[in-house]
Amino acid sequence: MGSALVLDQFGDTNHLRLARIETRPLLATEVRIGVTVAGLNPVDWQIVESRALATVFGLELPMGFGNDFAGIVVETGPYVRRWSVGDRVFGGARGRAVATSIVLDENHPSLRRTPPTVSDLEAGVLDIAGRTASAVADALSVQPGETVLVGAAGGGVGSILTQLLVRHGANVIGTGSLASTDYIRSLGARPMRYGDELAADIAASNIPIAATADLHGTDTAQAAIRSGVPPHRVVTIEADQPPAGVVRVNGSDASPDALDRLLELISTKSLRIPIAATYTLDQFHLAISHQRSRHVHGKIAISTSLSNAS
Ligand SMILES: NC(=O)c1ccc[n+]([C@@H]2O[C@H](COP(=O)([O-])OP(=O)(O)OC[C@H]3O[C@@H](n4cnc5c(N)ncnc54)[C@H](OP(=O)(O)O)[C@@H]3O)[C@@H](O)[C@H]2O)c1
Repeated sequence: MGSALVLDQFGDTNHLRLARIETRPLLATEVRIGVTVAGLNPVDWQIVESRALATVFGLELPMGFGNDFAGIVVETGPYVRRWSVGDRVFGGARGRAVATSIVLDENHPSLRRTPPTVSDLEAGVLDIAGRTASAVADALSVQPGETVLVGAAGGGVGSILTQLLVRHGANVIGTGSLASTDYIRSLGARPMRYGDELAADIAASNIPIAATADLHGTDTAQAAIRSGVPPHRVVTIEADQPPAGVVRVNGSDASPDALDRLLELISTKSLRIPIAATYTLDQFHLAISHQRSRHVHGKIAISTSLSNAS
């Protein structure tokens, strides 16, 4: 027996419940992973609220919750060749990661080995935000010395993207609320407030912006275009209908080695994966409402009873 979040009805995360789940026998090429850490993303609760979005991801009721995970292989099917019991792994399991265990095919495209130099807490929140930040950084194609405006620089995606751009030699202006000023500075960016004054503040700063990543709606994209940034150098990840000429990027656009590159940076302490808070499995409602506040610095993690993550 294990435990997993279960959703029987769309519309509201209050419909989620923590249920006891019977573990099923493995197929020949499947592995059972004891989840130590599950990381949350906005898309997790957006799926709960939208049957249409769930359908896009091939999910149907009853379903689980979450995507990002890290853990340990605890059982292997008889034909499994890639993995052994005890291997540390991480990845994405759409609509089921918040559980004490999950079953994946051994060749599931997002199943990866966790290097010894990377903690489960870091690996367990990496799949969506890491791939998305990496895809946005690639799409921005920034030259060292250029100034990049990042809208929502302190969020899950923004915290990784900002550090990647700074590492690449860009000057980053990161938008956030007043409460995020110090945090955005800690990522290596110059903080700027989001809101109606953004275009005026950009003009007052007298800094020519070469490129922009908007990670929250389209306000930053629009302010950047008004400030003279060519639309083809403006990237959004959230807008269904971005302003004309703006580049829309998804995590699925990440290059196949994106996560390996991030693991390397984490291993060498060149990239921090900031964790805003870690909750236990039975505190899942708190974890989700924290994530849902849209004012998170970095990532929210849920640790299971298997976890020794801190
Ligand atoms: N297309 C894709 O593949 C893809 C992948 C990942 C994420 N996304 C989407 O991209 C968005 C960002 O993801 P995330 O994981 O980074 O989310 P997140 O962690 O929830 O983002 C939180 C950040 O948003 C900032 N923020 C809140 N209100 C804002 C506003 N009005 N203007 C600018 N920034 C604001 C907050 O700053 P303060 O705390 O300072 O207010 C906070 O730092 C989500 O909507 C998500 O669904 C899309």
